[in-house]
Amino acid sequence: MTRETLSLLDDRFTFQTSGRFDLLIDEHVPYPQLGAADVDGALRKAIERAEGVIAVVGRVGSGKSSLIAAVADGLDEGFVPLRVSVIGIEAGDPVAFIRHAITEIRDLPQIHLTQHEERALDRAAAEHRTTGRAHQLRAGGELGAGHILTAKVIGEIQTAASEELQRATDPAEAMSGMQRLLDTFWKIMRCPVLIVEDTDHWSNAPETADRFFDQTARAFVNLDGVMVIATQSDYAKLDGYRRVRERLTAEVSLPKLPNAVAGLATVLEHRMLSSEVDGPLDEILEPPGLELLAQSYLASTHEEAAGDLRHTLAVMRTAIDVALAKVC
Ligand SMILES: Nc1ncnc2c1ncn2[C@@H]1O[C@H](COP(=O)(O)OP(=O)(O)OP(=O)(O)O)[C@@H](O)[C@H]1O
Ligand SMILES: [Mg+2]
Repeated sequence: MTRETLSLLDDRFTFQTSGRFDLLIDEHVPYPQLGAADVDGALRKAIERAEGVIAVVGRVGSGKSSLIAAVADGLDEGFVPLRVSVIGIEAGDPVAFIRHAITEIRDLPQIHLTQHEERALDRAAAEHRTTGRAHQLRAGGELGAGHILTAKVIGEIQTAASEELQRATDPAEAMSGMQRLLDTFWKIMRCPVLIVEDTDHWSNAPETADRFFDQTARAFVNLDGVMVIATQSDYAKLDGYRRVRERLTAEVSLPKLPNAVAGLATVLEHRMLSSEVDGPLDEILEPPGLELLAQSYLASTHEEAAGDLRHTLAVMRTAIDVALAKVC
């Protein structure tokens, strides 16, 4: 074990966990590479059905945001991921949520609306694939698949959002206003994908979570767009969730790593590679250490459900701190 490698891991925050949605993408290892069921593929296919509400279910720190961020980023340009935060709003009230969602779409910087498309098109070009699938999206107006949203088109979306916001004071108007806004995406052959991901915010407010599923998610089922919701395992036990459950397009549950030692090694090695720290993992973590880490992960699993990867990474950081203090 070299002190130099340990210091590098420490300096480069290799095993730090970030709360930032966009930063999760690079750290994400698709589940098949972790020896687990292909939930990445399952979520992508569910979104590509281009309808309804999808729940991504897992315990705190298990990787819901990571999966949603990575899959949303990998969608082709026929889909427009739109993040809607639930912090600071009464998310259990559909009208309040819808007004807030319309406001967020109105205020999205232009770059947010175009950068996903640019990356999707670059990927398509690099892979020499055509983007034919997007052509199957409900046909409409002036912008076809394979073209970046123009400033004019984005301006139209944002004007539509402003207009709907003014009307959306009564409940019936709010729902139809949201639908009209979603329709502006369909008209340019784009499927709007609303991402509700910071729901960990409700961990001390289960009644808000309950009402969100029972009222807001249920209302969204009838709208023409996709909504992906990060759902804590505890929320999935709420009556409001149970009532909406059979109307969901899909429920994607994060699985326990079938081989925790191998899976965690892959996650750690991926992080070492992306922070450009060379060296095999066993140079810094001997097999018995990895075994202990796997035990810590497994202690946070329940039956076949995923464990707390955030905590597991925190254990790894502590181990490095301890080792750094000891190794001279
Ligand atoms: N498939 C994965 N590959 C690599 N790292 C992962 C994976 N899934 C999760 N992680 C890492 O584990 C940590 C926790 O993940 P994430 O923030 O997505 O959990 P979460 O379920 O959204 O948590 P919360 O319930 O608090 O919202 C992150 O640092 C993330 O990078
Ligand atoms: Mg999260």
